[in-house]
Amino acid sequence: MTTSDNKEQQTIVITGASRGLGLALARDLARRGWRLIIDARGADALEAVRAELAQQTRVVAIAGDVTDATHRRALADAARELGSVDALVNNASILGPSPQPNLLDYPLDVLEEVYRANTIAPLALIQELRDTFTSGARILNITSDAAVEQYEGWGGYGSSKAALEQLSHVLAAEQPDWRVYWVDPGDMRTQMHQEAFPGEDISDRPLPEVSVPGLLALLTGDLPSGRYRAREVNVAGEPAHEPAPERGVRELRVALTVADYEAALRLYRDGFGLETVKEWNTAEGRGIVLAAGRGTIELLDPADSAYTDAMEAGQRVSGPVRLALEVADVRATAAALERNGGAAVHEPVMTSWGNPSQRMRAPDGMQLTLFQLPPAADES
Ligand SMILES: NC(=O)c1ccc[n+]([C@@H]2O[C@H](COP(=O)([O-])OP(=O)(O)OC[C@H]3O[C@@H](n4cnc5c(N)ncnc54)[C@H](OP(=O)(O)O)[C@@H]3O)[C@@H](O)[C@H]2O)c1
Repeated sequence: MTTSDNKEQQTIVITGASRGLGLALARDLARRGWRLIIDARGADALEAVRAELAQQTRVVAIAGDVTDATHRRALADAARELGSVDALVNNASILGPSPQPNLLDYPLDVLEEVYRANTIAPLALIQELRDTFTSGARILNITSDAAVEQYEGWGGYGSSKAALEQLSHVLAAEQPDWRVYWVDPGDMRTQMHQEAFPGEDISDRPLPEVSVPGLLALLTGDLPSGRYRAREVNVAGEPAHEPAPERGVRELRVALTVADYEAALRLYRDGFGLETVKEWNTAEGRGIVLAAGRGTIELLDPADSAYTDAMEAGQRVSGPVRLALEVADVRATAAALERNGGAAVHEPVMTSWGNPSQRMRAPDGMQLTLFQLPPAADES
């Protein structure tokens, strides 16, 4: 059970939630029942996100630019209508020119735009929302390693994030009732990252979902104000893990990547007469889980299989067969496997479908997904 699940519905404002990190966080929180106020400039992409997440929670989506005072006022009005705000994530941000010029050639009018979006707008939104914040409100300002490193070409964006960091630091001192976090999410495979590295293959960068558990730990845990790297935040801030990890496997799932999905359905579902446990058909691909005696068989079309690999392993590694094992505690089981010849393919992730998971490799190369299901109501 998560801390947030304990409380009455919480309300969060997330800027820039139509894609990338903002979307990954919004999806996670929608699943947990948080009420969302979200924005982005592009109205169509934002509306698609609103329609998706409104199936799970209350979502107010307001298209607009965070640098626009009227838009920020509209966000605050929406917040007042919902009552109060438990958290704000200043995530919307721009890179500036791509490719990024060195400082001596940096166009100053563009630098002003970058500062307006990345530094001034976050503070302006905090000012606008100040009366709506609950005591103990969480304010997360998303920054970057470029705020503290001296990467060539990153002087415009980096200094705007450095200013946001210092502004957060002082705000934390001035407002001890709030928790103010300035957070480096790490490199992520997003549109902004692709803009930063035009023409480069960025498929080795982790999906933004990998940075979400750390943000969640900050939102729901009790960590002091300060600078954090999202992927290093102790995720123990999130679930109150059971004291003694249970050994063994709760469910063995054989995940088959099938080129001819319909033919496989016919054989496994209809041929064996297996019951459907769950089924999906999304933009990312199609799949089904079938009850098969004491275990389950999962059929995935190649697109869904590739998406699952990207999410869990950060690379395309699975062959036609992968084993997925439901366990009580992913981290504890992964550690036990490592002591016994298994190797981690990737760090643990919170998947976009809501399961803490970790991809492992058996000595013979078999891909193993360890996954944890949310506790049943009577377990929480
Ligand atoms: N990706 C990385 O590797 C990386 C690394 C370090 C830090 N970060 C930080 O992580 C955060 C998320 O980045 P991301 O990679 O997810 O970026 P992204 O994929 O470009 O997404 C940015 C989001 O913000 C919105 N947005 C941009 N400017 C806006 C504005 N002026 N007003 C309102 N919405 C705006 C975008 O929608 P519209 O364009 O439609 O407005 C989009 O929804 C940013 O603060 C970024 O600086 C990213």
